[in-house]
Amino acid sequence: MTALTLSTAAASGQRADVIVVGVAKGAKGPVVAPGAESVDKAYDGKLASVLETLGAAGAEGEVTKLPAPSGFKAPLVLAVGLGAVPEKDSGYDAEALRRAAGAAARALAGSKKAAFALPIEDAADTGAIAEGALLGAYSFDAYKDNGDDTAAKGKGAKGAKAPLAEVALLGAKSRDKAHKAAVERATAVAEELNRARDLVNTPPNDLNPEAFAAVATAAAKEHGVKIQVLDEKALAKGGYGGILGVGAGSEAPPRLVKLSYSAGKAKKHLAFVGKGITYDSGGISLKPAGHNETMKCDMAGAAAVFAAVITAARLGLDVNVTGWLALAENMPSGSATRPGDVLRMYSGKTVEVLNTDAEGRLVLADALTRASEEKPDAIVDVATLTGAMMMALGGRTFGIMANDDAFRTSVHEIAEEVGEPSWPMPLPEHLRKGMDSPTADIANMGERMGGGLVAGLFLKEFVGEGIAWAHLDIAGPAYNESAPFGYTPKGGTGSAVRTLVRLAERTAAGDLG
Ligand code: BES
Ligand code: MN
Ligand code: ZN
Repeated sequence: MTALTLSTAAASGQRADVIVVGVAKGAKGPVVAPGAESVDKAYDGKLASVLETLGAAGAEGEVTKLPAPSGFKAPLVLAVGLGAVPEKDSGYDAEALRRAAGAAARALAGSKKAAFALPIEDAADTGAIAEGALLGAYSFDAYKDNGDDTAAKGKGAKGAKAPLAEVALLGAKSRDKAHKAAVERATAVAEELNRARDLVNTPPNDLNPEAFAAVATAAAKEHGVKIQVLDEKALAKGGYGGILGVGAGSEAPPRLVKLSYSAGKAKKHLAFVGKGITYDSGGISLKPAGHNETMKCDMAGAAAVFAAVITAARLGLDVNVTGWLALAENMPSGSATRPGDVLRMYSGKTVEVLNTDAEGRLVLADALTRASEEKPDAIVDVATLTGAMMMALGGRTFGIMANDDAFRTSVHEIAEEVGEPSWPMPLPEHLRKGMDSPTADIANMGERMGGGLVAGLFLKEFVGEGIAWAHLDIAGPAYNESAPFGYTPKGGTGSAVRTLVRLAERTAAGDLG
């Protein structure tokens, strides 16, 4: 990953390929953002008007390249748009900095070293810029031919530019503890989040449940996290009918992975549960063409949970975090679960499977019941659960449902704080009767309208009595099919990782319940 350093040295002396400055949208044209005063001075104070001449307005995500002023060691200046100039006395908000740093890092793919002279008022700003740069520099080229048989595959792929190799953050004191800690935190979060993106982007023929469990096992060992993997035999012995029923059609058997990061006995305990369908074909209720090309992303919830637990361990957070990865491949075959089959779930409840494409709730139900047995203080599940949630909220916003309004509000506020768009959604009780089954305790499908809420109501039945629970439906934001923006690439995005990590941090700090 991109290397980060902190420096208080002047921009003019930086031995770099490029100096990055911020430009904001003012009432009368572009305004050079704080942090770039010395750069502006070297242009005789005319940087804003030069940028205006070049067509720059300071809009969010806009990038403008110009030759560096004479006397600079770096040959190039890149001005990145920050959006509107903040109100008097308030600085740039963290998300504006994160996005600008991400857009700059993305635009600089192929360069070796950039020095970022963006506005930094405190350590939080340093952290936001670091996070944005590391996330924006991400690229996934493991499967691209590099045109050189002697080099390792994926390194410097032909036609694709290598990610920006090094970023120096100017204005951040390298000896200041708070700035250093902010960079360390951003590095841990971004490395694990980028690994979650890698997992989502990995083609499903290379990432089946067993392969995912192997990646989790290696990472857990490296970071001192306890791991337990239930294979198909152990799942059968334990009565995990939901996970087994979904995996029944695949040649690659399912897994339930438990990751435990322990901070000590008396601490608060969070459980994160992730939907890990390594490929969702729909099963016997096969998806039509046009609906299955991106379904390798259906394990994004499990990837987010995995990343969050490892990050909690790397940061040594003062909270116990258990991650549950419910891994299966949803395929049609002679051994697949049929519409009409009844599954006996881990909880003992029976479920009539009316549509094998509503598989996420089945694997999650077993994992939620299992997670509840340990009586955590709260459970959060993360899942690419319904097309309906995508219909409701679009491609960038996840829905939050919960059995506890205060907890839902907290999760929403935390998501907002870390720059993840989300919105609280209800769980209307009247939708429950649509899942009544003549044969079993419940059906895995109900009314079509409000399908995201129906799925949430199904999950709720498998959460232990008295445990605060929230459900994040990330079907929209998990996978970006449009153009990259800010620090978000095309493909896997790492959605929900930063919300889970901040929830763990806030719980550790005693801010919640
Ligand atoms: N994995 C899909 C949901 C999904 C759709 C995620 C689009 C990302 C993008 C899920 O398993 C699914 O198929 N849900 C069905 C449920 C229905 C059959 C009740 C859906 O949303 O159509
Ligand atoms: Mn499905
Ligand atoms: Zn699915």
